[in-house]
Amino acid sequence: MSVPVLHRLALNESPYPPLPAVRKAMRRAVAQAHRYPQFYPDDLTERIAAWCRLPPDHVVVGSGSVGVALQLLQAVVQRGDAMAYAWRSFDAYPLLADMVGAQPVPVPLSPDGHQDLDALLAALDRRTRVVVVCSPHNPTGGVIPADALSVFLHRVPRHVTVLLDEAYVEFARDTGLPDTSSLVGAHPNVLVLRTFSKAYGLAALRIGYGLGAPDLVERVRRQQLPFGINAVATAAVKASLEAGNELRLRVDTVIAERERLRHELVGLGWHIPPGHANSVWLATPDPVDDAARALTVAGVQTRYYPGEGLRLTVGSRTANDTVLTALAGLRVRECGTALT
Ligand SMILES: Cc1ncc(COP(=O)(O)O)c(C=O)c1O
Repeated sequence: MSVPVLHRLALNESPYPPLPAVRKAMRRAVAQAHRYPQFYPDDLTERIAAWCRLPPDHVVVGSGSVGVALQLLQAVVQRGDAMAYAWRSFDAYPLLADMVGAQPVPVPLSPDGHQDLDALLAALDRRTRVVVVCSPHNPTGGVIPADALSVFLHRVPRHVTVLLDEAYVEFARDTGLPDTSSLVGAHPNVLVLRTFSKAYGLAALRIGYGLGAPDLVERVRRQQLPFGINAVATAAVKASLEAGNELRLRVDTVIAERERLRHELVGLGWHIPPGHANSVWLATPDPVDDAARALTVAGVQTRYYPGEGLRLTVGSRTANDTVLTALAGLRVRECGTALT
């Protein structure tokens, strides 16, 4: 018999529905749904650029950050070119490579679970057009410090475009992440990916953006679908940018809950590295398979990679308490085997 899902902690969604002011802006836009949105989302691009303190020609908006990533690949990849990325990582990378006919080159994480920048560099060759790095990393939450990233970027050959996926950047505080404006100024081959799906809680509306040097941004924009960004989503993003302080408080709460979860799980014997996304990563040799079973029985949906690890989105306090109660029933030995 299947157990009903009580808590969706599988997709790193926000536990919060849109703010009242955002819902009001969406309702207003719905009333105008017989009108097309802007041909290209110039208005929204300008608003995001002002908010990021960058000129508008450094910003490209797309259908989620996944949509922007696809536009970038369509702009720079020819069928048969190679695309490198650390693996395990965001499930969409190999799918996107497949969509543009790129040869995927997954590079294993280092034994301590980090993206191995030296191994990624070693994997780049004449066929490589794109290398993806993800910081904070999905699924581990690890960040690439600014100095390590800078060394990496200086060593990436000029014919390779770097996709720096920062979908979770708002959840990373005091982690020494790079300054985006100097980064895209120094590296015209880098596109930084951001999204309104995670910290801003607008996953259903599909708005993401890329930040980069004007030449690269222009190439990515050329892949933009006319009328492709819908007006209700645009209204919601604009209202969200105006509600920055309220949204920041929500992010503070998610960070506090992430730290509480990690602290409690470490107390139960789990080995959990510090993470900087809206998730917690349980990995083998800790008993993740037992955890997956216990959480399913408790009605908690997670992202489970059998025999490898389990990513738990930080949910509401109730959802997180359900997780802790379910996992408290498992004991983790030094060697990582569960005793039930
Ligand atoms: C690393 C990473 N990048 C991008 C995305 C997708 O975000 P969007 O909803 O903006 O397409 C996700 C979603 O889970 C993600 O984990």
